Amino acid sequence: MPPVDLAAPLEDLSGAWCNSDIVVTSLLEAISFVTPELEDFVVRTVAEGLATQPECDLRQRCRAFLREESSHSRLHRKFNSLLHEYLGTTPPGLGLVRALLRGARRYLSLSSRLLIVAALEHFAAVLSRVYLRQESGCVFRSASAGEMFARHAREELAHRSVVYDLSFRHKAAGRMRRAACVLVILLAALVFLWLAVPWILHRKTGTGLSAAAFSLCHDLAKNRRYIKTQAPLDQLFTFARNDFHPDRSIEPVASDLSE
Ligand SMILES: [Fe+2]
Ligand SMILES: [Fe+2]
Repeated sequence: MPPVDLAAPLEDLSGAWCNSDIVVTSLLEAISFVTPELEDFVVRTVAEGLATQPECDLRQRCRAFLREESSHSRLHRKFNSLLHEYLGTTPPGLGLVRALLRGARRYLSLSSRLLIVAALEHFAAVLSRVYLRQESGCVFRSASAGEMFARHAREELAHRSVVYDLSFRHKAAGRMRRAACVLVILLAALVFLWLAVPWILHRKTGTGLSAAAFSLCHDLAKNRRYIKTQAPLDQLFTFARNDFHPDRSIEPVASDLSE
């Protein structure tokens, strides 16, 4: 896949730049804002976990993983700085995510943090799978933005088992802990999106915050059947199964198989 040119200017990001749909655009912007925060936690935790690993195949995979995640963060930070120009500031909910990650760094052991990172990577792979299934139907007004999201999704899917294998070397967690981890991440993600998406809608359209929240609820209700068929809730909780492994539980997309 050709690299995304960091030096190239990104196109106009005002209004609805994905599918001419302001809700989908606001959702992608919220995801982009939270990405560097999560990836910073991921990179630091994996680098710490890697320090005690002898030279082996997993160590090489972790190094490649760290390079990819650092590159994702750089791209999203650049993209977010452009979004910042349109939105004026960053969305609410980011402070909550930062506080949770700070608490995890301060109070949790390395093996617990590796479990959280393995679960975050599982979320990233499952959502990337959903995104890539719909990619052919997506129309981006900004080609750079489309390229960035597609590249990120493909790389998340390709490196889906690296942190799971590393966390397993440190300490294998039981089913209850893994299920609790998925539940906590899911709740935190829903709270973040509920705070960030209506706010982005409000800033992008100039409508009041309550009107933006109402319009989001209306959109969700209108598309509830489609959302129900696409929401990968059961896939997220496969993380807690005894026989779970990312390579077996998440299928690659057709284009990855042909590479
Ligand atoms: Fe990433
Ligand atoms: Fe990742």
